[in-house]
Amino acid sequence: MRNPRILILDPSDELRDQVSDVIHDLRPRPEAVTCDRVDLVCDVLADDGPFDVMVAGPGLGDQAGLARLRLIHDEVPAMATVLAFDHRPDAHLRDMVQAGAIDLLQLPVHDKEVAESLERALELARKFQVPAPVSVPASAVTTSSMGAPLRTPGRVFTVASATGGCGKTFMATNLAYFLARHSGKRVCVVDLDLQFGEVSTALRLKPRFTIYDALHRDEGEEGDLAEHIEEYLVAHETGIKVLAAPKDPTEADRISSPDVARIIQAVRQHYDYVVVDTPSALTEIVLAAFEGAERLFVMATLDLPSVRNLGVFLTTLEKLRVPTDNVRLILNKAESDVGIEISQVEKLFPQGFEAVLPYAKEVSRSINLGMPVLASSPNAEVSRNMVPVVSALLPEGHLARVVTPTPHRSPGFLTRLFHRPQPRTS
Ligand SMILES: Nc1ncnc2c1ncn2[C@@H]1O[C@H](COP(=O)(O)OP(=O)(O)OP(=O)(O)O)[C@@H](O)[C@H]1O
Ligand SMILES: [Mg+2]
Repeated sequence: MRNPRILILDPSDELRDQVSDVIHDLRPRPEAVTCDRVDLVCDVLADDGPFDVMVAGPGLGDQAGLARLRLIHDEVPAMATVLAFDHRPDAHLRDMVQAGAIDLLQLPVHDKEVAESLERALELARKFQVPAPVSVPASAVTTSSMGAPLRTPGRVFTVASATGGCGKTFMATNLAYFLARHSGKRVCVVDLDLQFGEVSTALRLKPRFTIYDALHRDEGEEGDLAEHIEEYLVAHETGIKVLAAPKDPTEADRISSPDVARIIQAVRQHYDYVVVDTPSALTEIVLAAFEGAERLFVMATLDLPSVRNLGVFLTTLEKLRVPTDNVRLILNKAESDVGIEISQVEKLFPQGFEAVLPYAKEVSRSINLGMPVLASSPNAEVSRNMVPVVSALLPEGHLARVVTPTPHRSPGFLTRLFHRPQPRTS
């Protein structure tokens, strides 16, 4: 059995030295790793984890610190946290529990108390031992000249349409799920339908924060957007993350196209794939989402207004000199006997449709489950028709692994109640 491992997360030496001294007398003697910057903790967890216990220093006892610890706890739920503070934390007990704290140490503290606390935490962690590290692939992390980790920016895929209800959100959530499932990489959906975004609803998520909160962090908070963006994301049980649209549509007015560009850049620094959902419009916000996108999926449905507006949309892109060689068209909700044939529509668009997806009841079922249809009904025709489009985006090595899709196993009620989702291994 391996020796227990303790992560000491504290910018100052004092607590680190004390914990390092105390663990010399514990048996089996734990191995300690220190991290002095909270923004580097994900990399330490990925590179040196898993850890059984984390000792979080006094700088993390405030609301912002606890929000960060909660994120860490969501990623590594089996790691027990001991929270040290030098004056009473400005937070509710509930916040501390949600951040995974199982014990509190009021500083200065006797060595004996530290030892007892660590022993209790290690005992608890043993009961919930998870052998896997968090899923940040080390290969995706390079090092800047400052020594700080810097990821290769993620690839961006944007989904758009001229007419509402064509299936943009449906496509964006399924694409994100597929990429996460078959590449094992980190995927984030950004909901840029700022007024009426529905990504969270489609995945049955209850985001605490939105894109608006990320952009309007309290003034005076240290660090830039990229450093903090992960705190504003919500995780779906399949592993994909979501940056939700504002809760109040009026907040959308306070988000500009440069804001959107900043957001996408920030997310790209943490995620291998960024899928952007948009409203049905050609606003500056949407155009900002096209910039830097490696692929732009434009959706339409099999009815005259949608087909007509698809034509207008493509012509407008050309007029605006938006490069169209990365545009792929998708015809969705295709049905027979609706007075317009697929072949007629195909003649109008010489570039052709990358996929024709049927109208399918499995889609409504998947929305009611809060699951992408590729996860809930992988063998349905709609899923099978979507696979070639989305698998074309995977790196070549991963293509071979996409054989027969298997359903995502949703944890049962009791599992959901008592266990947080386990970290993915990459
Ligand atoms: N292939 C399909 N078969 C059946 N229902 C579908 C299909 N595609 C999408 N839908 C359903 O159609 C509705 C609209 O889809 P969705 O919300 O993805 O469109 P949208 O383009 O994002 O709409 P909006 O412009 O309002 O954002 C949803 O209820 C969705 O579940
Ligand atoms: Mg939508």
